Amino acid sequence: MTAREGETVAAALLASGMGVFRETAVSGAARGPWCMMGVCFDCLVEIDGVGNRQACMVEVTPGMVVRRMRGTRGV
Ligand code: FES
Repeated sequence: MTAREGETVAAALLASGMGVFRETAVSGAARGPWCMMGVCFDCLVEIDGVGNRQACMVEVTPGMVVRRMRGTRGV
């Protein structure tokens, strides 16, 4: 997908139509960005192999790989 320079991962994903970023560990409930300012943690995604990244706090970069989080990050 394409994004504008300076956009956050969350903004780019929302603009592309993706609203569900993760599923909760306990119930599997769908979650997506809410606050867009680093407070709610509902925007957690895996970015370049690192889990639990706040999509609203990370700017997109060329070649970045973003995956939906399912449950916990694991160890
Ligand atoms: S949308 Fe709330 S922490 Fe990212």
